[in-house]
Amino acid sequence: MLKGKHIILGITGGIAAYKSVSLLRLFIKAGAEVQVVITPSGKEFITPVTLSALSGKPVVSEFFTANSGEWHSHVDLGLWADAMVIAPATASSIAKMANGVADNMLITTYLSAKAPVFIAPAMDLDMMAHPSTKRNIELLKSYGNHIIEPAEGELASHLIGKGRMEEPEGIFEYLKNFFASSQDLSGKKVLITAGPTYEKIDPVRFIGNYSSGKMGYAIAEEAARRGAEVTIVSGPVSISTNSPNINVIKVESARDMHKECLKIFPQCEYAIMSAAVADYAPVECAENKIKREKDEIPVIKLTKNPDIAASLGEIKTPKQKLIGFALETNNEEVNAVEKLKRKNLDMIVLNSLQDKGAGFGTDTNKITIFDCEGNKTTYPLKSKNEVAKDIIEYIIK
Ligand code: CTP
Repeated sequence: MLKGKHIILGITGGIAAYKSVSLLRLFIKAGAEVQVVITPSGKEFITPVTLSALSGKPVVSEFFTANSGEWHSHVDLGLWADAMVIAPATASSIAKMANGVADNMLITTYLSAKAPVFIAPAMDLDMMAHPSTKRNIELLKSYGNHIIEPAEGELASHLIGKGRMEEPEGIFEYLKNFFASSQDLSGKKVLITAGPTYEKIDPVRFIGNYSSGKMGYAIAEEAARRGAEVTIVSGPVSISTNSPNINVIKVESARDMHKECLKIFPQCEYAIMSAAVADYAPVECAENKIKREKDEIPVIKLTKNPDIAASLGEIKTPKQKLIGFALETNNEEVNAVEKLKRKNLDMIVLNSLQDKGAGFGTDTNKITIFDCEGNKTTYPLKSKNEVAKDIIEYIIK
């Protein structure tokens, strides 16, 4: 899986830096090409000579080579890499990465990296438990980085707790699994609805909801990363995507979203309905702005919108999988399972507004998946990027 892969191994200044030598050897043995980038304090723990001898490449640490003045391009390195692994990642480097403090070659390389980034924190248990470290790690996760969680065990301080860097074999396995799963949607077409819909009342007003589109876009990114060709039919949102595998079709109303989905769905293997579609729309949109009348309170007459998920459920072929969402405030499980059946879905992802950190606008979500075979799987609170991964993994399984 790692044969021929270009890996940047970032080493920061922690005791666990000695383990990076074993990690480097595992990568090299697996046939990867490794470029080591080490921070100035990393060199206090492990010598560049050992690392360059094992990797077969000069170790990069400074912006310039002292004698020749040769400039090391962090941009070129960032483009060269298929993956960047930072092991160990100290509290200080984690803070710099989370906040874009580009004061050494490793951080500038991280900020320029286009490839997936894997971070293996290593520090004392109190530093690990500090709210600022926790916040920085959450920030890094929310940017889509992979955190390889530290293990519990004896630390360099002889204290026992969480903070010990994952063993080199564990980090190596993580990378192997990542690349193994990385193209499992190759050649598949995926339709995703995302965001809210706006139903026009007059030229300046609409009926809408608080959906940010973050969950749908995170699912799209994950599917695209795994090789799928993705189309998002998106309601009005302020987020966007740069992925070349994602085509975004912007719509406003439920009717327009419905029309686009009917066109695209027949070519797709999967459809994931994460949009918060308005169930009703004004019967008509006033031609001019509705004025405030002195005595009269306007009544807006509504009509039912099409149920997009249900209409795709009607035309679905056995080769296609249809996935819905249910955002509920009460009687969650019963409502979700009822929707799964009524809309002829293969699986439904439930989030409850009773759970803190779940639902609209947040960067996190807490989901339960029900499938048409009667299985129920509950997940803990996670970042929306990680939730997206869980959903895609469940679909593939
Ligand atoms: N959905 C849809 N079109 C609609 C309404 C909902 O495609 N007009 C999809 C949503 O994207 C979601 C699923 O159906 O995947 C469930 O949406 P939800 O709003 O929870 O269900 P409703 O059928 O609208 O039921 P209710 O609002 O009564 O809870």
